[in-house]
Amino acid sequence: MFFALRNRAQACFLADLNTELVNLWRVVQQEPKAFWDHIQPYFKRQGEDAYYVVRDESPDHHLERAARFFYLNQTAWNGLWRENQRGVFNVPWGARDFRGVDVDFLSAVSLALQDVTIRETDFRDAAKNTERGDFIYFDPPYLPISDTSKFAGYNGKRFRKNDLEELADLCKHLTKRGVHWMVSNRDNEHIREIFSHATVVPFTTRRSVAAQSKRHVQPKDSPEVVVVGGPKS
Ligand SMILES: C[S@@+](CC[C@H](N)C(=O)[O-])C[C@H]1O[C@@H](n2cnc3c(N)ncnc32)[C@H](O)[C@@H]1O
Repeated sequence: MFFALRNRAQACFLADLNTELVNLWRVVQQEPKAFWDHIQPYFKRQGEDAYYVVRDESPDHHLERAARFFYLNQTAWNGLWRENQRGVFNVPWGARDFRGVDVDFLSAVSLALQDVTIRETDFRDAAKNTERGDFIYFDPPYLPISDTSKFAGYNGKRFRKNDLEELADLCKHLTKRGVHWMVSNRDNEHIREIFSHATVVPFTTRRSVAAQSKRHVQPKDSPEVVVVGGPKS
């Protein structure tokens, strides 16, 4: 969404609660060359054994943290970032090689991020900065399909049902304040109910879901929605 709209927007603001994701975006924004240097050693760390060694590491330096996050994103199961309640990354190996990134592509991404404000903050706080005529896109975590689902959230700070309900309320207020907004999430009765004040557009998309083995994924049609709202033009 950000890259699609970057050239049409006067000012952009990116926010997430994941400390490592925010660190990576900032490093790509401010130090792309140093980031490039820091990912090079990971080409020698391919395969399952190397993955678990990297997974167990916890570097302090922001460039090393960004490189490790990027490596794990490319090699973890399904590219997933998930932490347990103690904030420890716990995704199994995805049976994929580290591929790195094309240097020209990295430069283009860094350029697109210039003059963008990147903050580690909650969506409620991020939405406070919006003014009449702005557009804000929310891509919140999907709630577990069932109470017994093992998926505990992207980070130690879990996104719960009441967070989604507060987001729906917040969107209602954004509409009243003249702010355009969009939310994407899973299609179900709950989402349709809490966003009954807006336009819900259902669609299906191919998603990779866990098969019998944790390491293998199967594509499956997943019911999704985009919900849109804001002042009528
Ligand atoms: C479906 S992912 C979206 C990822 C993002 N769109 C991207 O492409 O990198 C959901 C994101 O919501 C973030 N998140 C979870 N709870 C949050 C909160 N209360 N406020 C802001 N972000 C939150 C997670 O850290 C995760 O990165």
